[in-house]
Amino acid sequence: MSRILKHVGIIMDGNGRWAQVRGLPRYEGHRRGVEKVKEIISAALRLKINVITFYAFSIENWQRPKKEVDIIMELLQNHLKREINNFISQGIRFKMIGNRSLIPDNILFVIEEAEKATANCKQLLAQFAISYSGRDEIIRAVKKALQQHIEPEKFNEDTMNSFLDTAEIPEPDLIIRTSGEQRLSNFLIWQSAYSEFYFTQTLWPDFTDDEFTEAILDFQKRQRRFGKVSEFART
Ligand code: IPE
Ligand code: IPE
Ligand code: MG
Repeated sequence: MSRILKHVGIIMDGNGRWAQVRGLPRYEGHRRGVEKVKEIISAALRLKINVITFYAFSIENWQRPKKEVDIIMELLQNHLKREINNFISQGIRFKMIGNRSLIPDNILFVIEEAEKATANCKQLLAQFAISYSGRDEIIRAVKKALQQHIEPEKFNEDTMNSFLDTAEIPEPDLIIRTSGEQRLSNFLIWQSAYSEFYFTQTLWPDFTDDEFTEAILDFQKRQRRFGKVSEFART
């Protein structure tokens, strides 16, 4: 556990399949999935990770049947209301990344109240990507830059970073995706340029603190080169 790991992203996938194999409605998988978030936040606190980002709902997910979308939004809202005091007492700062204009007002209200209530918490930043897609985030960032009439010569990676929802936040060192799919599905596409990936067949409702720890240990063994030659390489 020696190597510094500042930011872990998690693509929580497989809730629907978890329910389907048990003959349960998909929302049962989402319900169990939300419960898992708590366990992994505790693990992140224990492992002294600075930032954890959960991919909870993509912009593309708005195209799912209305009933499923409504249930997911309801679950997210209830989870936040229920967890807010735990967040405060454990020093967890809650922050949403994603497109706020697409979120119903009553849900956005709960999200923003939670952000305000935990704004000064310092132990862990728990980001939730809700109504999020990486391309949408990039387009919104470019629009903000254009509105500020930034001169093209002055526009660089730092400028771009400053307009993203993740401004000021370190890039994800590690991205975990459950359920066997090996793709980003529009998650942190700009920020993941040099992230390490950990894919597991485990469906999100079955994911555990132990497997999370295993993923972190696996990350510790990797050699990151960022395009340079390894410090141990021979010339
Ligand atoms: C992930 O589980 C949760 C969301 C995308 C909201 P899925 O609902 O995608 O589950 P599968 O992939 O259909 O099993
Ligand atoms: C990605 O999962 C989004 C979240 C986990 C919130 P999806 O299930 O929506 O992704 P695809 O459709 O398999 O790429
Ligand atoms: Mg899925």
